Amino acid sequence: MREKWEYFEAARRGFCSCWLIWLKLSCILRHSVSPVLARYISILFPAKKMETLLVLLHHLPETLDDDDYLSDTSSILTEIDPSYPFPVDGREQNRMNEQHDLLKELLGGNYVGPVRDLLARRPLQRQIKVLDLCTGTGKWVVEMAEEFPHVKFNALDIVPISTRSPPRNVDFEVHDVTSIRFPDSSFDFVHARHCSLLPEIEYSTMLTEASRVLRPGGLILLGEWIHLPIDFQTGRSPPGVTAFCQALNSSLLSEYAIPNIPPYLTDYISQLGGFDDIQSRDYRMPIGDWGWSSPRAKALGFKFGRTLKIWAESAAMVIAKAGYGEDVVKGLLDGFKGEIFNIAGLQIAYRVVTARRLA
Ligand SMILES: C[S@@+](CC[C@H](N)C(=O)[O-])C[C@H]1O[C@@H](n2cnc3c(N)ncnc32)[C@H](O)[C@@H]1O
Repeated sequence: MREKWEYFEAARRGFCSCWLIWLKLSCILRHSVSPVLARYISILFPAKKMETLLVLLHHLPETLDDDDYLSDTSSILTEIDPSYPFPVDGREQNRMNEQHDLLKELLGGNYVGPVRDLLARRPLQRQIKVLDLCTGTGKWVVEMAEEFPHVKFNALDIVPISTRSPPRNVDFEVHDVTSIRFPDSSFDFVHARHCSLLPEIEYSTMLTEASRVLRPGGLILLGEWIHLPIDFQTGRSPPGVTAFCQALNSSLLSEYAIPNIPPYLTDYISQLGGFDDIQSRDYRMPIGDWGWSSPRAKALGFKFGRTLKIWAESAAMVIAKAGYGEDVVKGLLDGFKGEIFNIAGLQIAYRVVTARRLA
């Protein structure tokens, strides 16, 4: 059966084609018929308005999501879960996808630690299962499903922004990660990347749920940015960056009860109990393409600087919502962007924590 989006897409294409034909036809007519008839034509079909509509419809796919605009959402969807502070619009989704690619380059793949071994195909073994929490656009899970076609992947997010045509071994669900529907001990690997914008109580509940659904011996992997860009040589962050990040952190805390979780990932896991072999690894992402001798760092830094700018614009919305005046927010944002794009040698740390569920 055809889905709603297919009808919408057919109607959109139909409209665009008809209007293009009409546009061409009316041009010919205008040049070949009497001025009176030409006037009726332009009254009946006011070209400017129709052209604007045409342009909007024509460009709809590009202005929204990557290659999947009908699964895209507007920032209105943030209203579905008012406890999640960032927008989930097309711009943010593109940023998440680009960030995914850059992280993959930084880490040298989609995972670190004992993941490959855990997911390896073994003869006569039961179905291996992976759960991705707060999956977002689902790029990680789709690539993992392609790399491990014998593994079954489930991916959860509160908003429906994942691809509409996933590989056959992936199930995306709109589902709250604070109350996971799966039974105890049903997954070999739980992946929770960039979930630290959940209110603290929800983040802790998510970890408790992750622990419950993990099989004994199963692996959990958490990945988060440690939010302050730093010059690692001096150990300092420039003043504009510091002011912006402080304003963001205090806004997240006052408006959403979200503390700065990323530096304490191992503490969260230890306090949860029931895990051993807790390992934490830090990676440094270069920011900007100057100040680096290696071409790889230059290229990574250039692209990462772009995504950081978009991140800062989304973060500025959070700061504004917390009651900072428009001029103050603009000043903070300009200060952040100015330093990010002008100070050489800044980096941001990315932390990956893995742990094993006790047998
Ligand atoms: C920063 S994005 C990270 C997406 C993805 N993990 C990645 O690394 O690209 C955070 C995601 O968490 C989702 N989210 C927030 N609260 C949630 C909840 N309670 N249950 C499920 N997903 C939630 C948001 O909708 C958003 O897509």
